[in-house]
Amino acid sequence: MTRTTFLGLDIGTSSIKALLVNQQQGVVAEASVPVSISRPHPLWSEQDPEEWWQACLTAIAQVKHAGPEGFLALHSIGLSGQQHGAVFLDADGRVLRPAILWNDGRCGREAEELQNSVPDFVARASNLAMVGFTAPKVLWVRRHEPEVFKKTRKILLPKDYIRYRLSGAYVTEMSDAGGTLWHDIAGRKWDDTLLSAGGIDRSYVADLVEGSAESARLSDALSTEWGLAKGSVVIAGGAGDNAAAAVGIGAVKAGEGLLSMGTSGVLFAVTDRLVTKPERVLNAMCHALPNRWHVMGVTLSAASALTWFADMLGKGDHMAELITEVEAFASDPVQRANAPIFVPYLSGERTPHNDPEANGIFAGLRAQHDHVAMAYAVMEGVAFCFADDFDVLAASGADLKSCFLVGGGARSQFWGQMLSDVIQFNLELPAGAETGAALGAARLGMLAAGVASEAEICFKPAVRLRYHPNADEKAFYKPRLDRFRALYAAEHHLRSV
Ligand code: XUL
Repeated sequence: MTRTTFLGLDIGTSSIKALLVNQQQGVVAEASVPVSISRPHPLWSEQDPEEWWQACLTAIAQVKHAGPEGFLALHSIGLSGQQHGAVFLDADGRVLRPAILWNDGRCGREAEELQNSVPDFVARASNLAMVGFTAPKVLWVRRHEPEVFKKTRKILLPKDYIRYRLSGAYVTEMSDAGGTLWHDIAGRKWDDTLLSAGGIDRSYVADLVEGSAESARLSDALSTEWGLAKGSVVIAGGAGDNAAAAVGIGAVKAGEGLLSMGTSGVLFAVTDRLVTKPERVLNAMCHALPNRWHVMGVTLSAASALTWFADMLGKGDHMAELITEVEAFASDPVQRANAPIFVPYLSGERTPHNDPEANGIFAGLRAQHDHVAMAYAVMEGVAFCFADDFDVLAASGADLKSCFLVGGGARSQFWGQMLSDVIQFNLELPAGAETGAALGAARLGMLAAGVASEAEICFKPAVRLRYHPNADEKAFYKPRLDRFRALYAAEHHLRSV
């Protein structure tokens, strides 16, 4: 049997996605299986790793059913997944408690203690000790659930737990390791000082490989069950979901990037050396490919801010209509100049504030304003968040040359042009359906299997549309962006008095 297909498995927060592609990266079969989040206490966000695994098995069974011949030609698997989550395993590899996720906010005290525990912590970790990252979660368990911590022998990231179930191996890779706060990101190895500040040592963490390298083989038991030759299926290191999405869209060389307008927003740029700006909350980690790194600005409410507003109006199912109304509103320059200002920090903000307590704000409301003026402000406010991300990126010295626009919010051309005008940067809209992180994972699988070169595998999609910034718009947005920034500063000040 010639082995000509590759499986990308993405362990997302809302669903597990499986994508089977052929050597030309045509879709052979795909499946998506939802997973649930549990929030047993305020700020908590947890998932059951067993539910991930069962959802993976269901998704793989669906892919196998939809493309049985293609599945039997499986050469390799690539994994991608939500970053930062902590899975606690005992000496027999059994899960000791639910996984604590990236969007869990319980460990503020531990994050602060961790950052203060080593004088050069931030320089070593290349990142602030933020609550979303893995290490403070482990310190929280050590403090609040000592019986769990005592039994813990391995702590794995979400996709690496799935690798363990697929292969029995404890392995992670460079792009996700940086999100733990135990990683020497410049040196691409574990940092014993950081591990010890986190209350653990090397025995607790997985072995490190590059994302595009082989990490393990599919277990004999699963190979037999799935009708595949024992020892034949390679499992690639894979990547954290954002790095995987970058590989999926061909952002693999220094200067290439992507701006994702999803539920949250991400500005991702590839670098050929480690670039950091932790004091302005830029995440810095390895890329999933050797000798490359990335920086990332994260805005917590992007397309979700408009969904929130539309749902409140009862227009959640009529988003396109609402955006058309906004477009008509914005075509009148006087109306637009007098529109309210919105700060979309509905779930706090990461870049550039690292402020989980930050709030949303509507300001400048007048009797003449209606829901359309307010929806305009929401869209503009999200664009302003990306202006902050671009500002931090420029301050870091990372040089972004080209940027794809992806995510649900990218469906609106009006929003795409507004973004380009606000950030004063060219944005490229890819043609065709997005397959995102799962495609990136499949590509890393292809690289690990050695079926073609990186240039052949990590090509860029065709560009459907290019947004060019209008220079005149810069002057229009400047005073409004200043007000947006001043509003957050004032709200922050009020919370501290
Ligand atoms: C990245 C981050 C999220 C998660 C979940 O730092 O927290 O993007 O990876 O998708």
